[in-house]
Amino acid sequence: MRAEGCAATAYHWVMLAAPAHVRALRREDVGRLVRLWEEAGMVPVGPDGLTVDEAVDATLAESAVALVVDRDGALVGAGCGAVFGPIGLLLRLVVAPGAHEDSLARLLDALEVSLIERGARTARLWLALDPLLTNMLADRGYAPLPGTVVLERALSPIAAGPTALAPLGGRMIEPALWDSLTGMQEAKSVIERRVILPLAERTLAERHGVAQPKAIVLFGPPGTGKTTFAKGIASRLKWPFVEIEPAALAGDGSERAAARLAEAVDRILGLPAAVVFVDEVEDLASVRSAERRVNPGVTNEFLRQIPRLRDVPYHLLVCATNWVSRLDPAFLRPGRFDYVLPVGPPDADARAAIWNRYVTDITDERIDVDILVQRTELFTPADIEFAAHKAAQLAFEREHFEGVHHRAMTDEFLAAIGETRPTLTSEMIETFRNDTNTFARS
Ligand SMILES: Nc1ncnc2c1ncn2[C@@H]1O[C@H](COP(=O)(O)OP(=O)(O)O)[C@@H](O)[C@H]1O
Ligand SMILES: [Mg+2]
Repeated sequence: MRAEGCAATAYHWVMLAAPAHVRALRREDVGRLVRLWEEAGMVPVGPDGLTVDEAVDATLAESAVALVVDRDGALVGAGCGAVFGPIGLLLRLVVAPGAHEDSLARLLDALEVSLIERGARTARLWLALDPLLTNMLADRGYAPLPGTVVLERALSPIAAGPTALAPLGGRMIEPALWDSLTGMQEAKSVIERRVILPLAERTLAERHGVAQPKAIVLFGPPGTGKTTFAKGIASRLKWPFVEIEPAALAGDGSERAAARLAEAVDRILGLPAAVVFVDEVEDLASVRSAERRVNPGVTNEFLRQIPRLRDVPYHLLVCATNWVSRLDPAFLRPGRFDYVLPVGPPDADARAAIWNRYVTDITDERIDVDILVQRTELFTPADIEFAAHKAAQLAFEREHFEGVHHRAMTDEFLAAIGETRPTLTSEMIETFRNDTNTFARS
């Protein structure tokens, strides 16, 4: 009995572990698809009220996306989707008995992405009969629409596929990035509250009449984490991160450059969602044209494009600058940028948090972090990162050349700090304070 049970389990496991992939439905799959429906009790009429003929026609309709889960040539799952404006409808979602939950999840992922790419904001389907499917849909956030037999889920418009992102140099940022931003609590908390939460919790924000931020400026000395924050926002929202480099568009005539900028924005607007990052925005919008690295034609084009980015619900423009005082004050006006946020030099607490992060990565020796914090008063987070890597390098070399078997100790960190030139000066800190008083808007 027991042995038999084990054998059955093992066999079951092998079946489930067989590779399954999601692919588009082909015409020659239709016979097997109908058998799948039959096994699921959808023949002659399904709970959606569709006859087999109607369901086949709907599935093969040009406006529908039909996908199947293929395991070694056998269909173990299928579903199709179509979009009506903001509504995505899923039809004929079906799984073979014993199909692996993973492959089902991949089928749903792919169907939802196809709905999102066609502009849907919610996915809806008729209540499913299959208990596995029902549980799984509930886990994914599908809930009954009151008074109907329809399940609904808001689609987070995150999931631009790699094919859409690659030509734009865009990418998805690993979710851990936001948490790895240590210290900098003040900047982090302001960005979290003003920028991320209203975008992540739209319904709640709307209930309170809180406007969705569309464009922000981050300013502060080099190396304080502006670029990292912009990526962090993308990682928290699970939106793609795309960078526009105006200086890279320059060359062969301002008209061409302006046209290329407009094309880049067109393509970015084609993504379902994006954090659009423009670094060193002073190159575009300095008060004095001598400080600009791009010509006025490109600047004007950029100003024309900002309202287009503001007009759509799932795009956030993040501009960064080391020199906020050089920006044309008109550039920063509230109708254009919702917030102008300082990302400043790390105070002692922030430096301690950042040091602790790198120290725990590099060594298991006891390190006197307080003294590292004291000795790095004019260090940016980037300088601390640099010094930490240098300490690791010193310890590595010491073991290699001198055979000293331990990981980095306080001495290595202090030596590394001595060899690192701090980015900040007291004047820069003073300037940043004044700039914060003059320009910050949160
Ligand atoms: N709060 C932080 N904690 C740890 N490392 C950080 C932090 N902020 C920045 N860094 C590191 O410093 C480096 C430079 O940061 P970056 O975002 O490029 O600065 P900026 O854009 O302001 O010049 C990055 O490699 C990043 O990993
Ligand atoms: Mg940067």
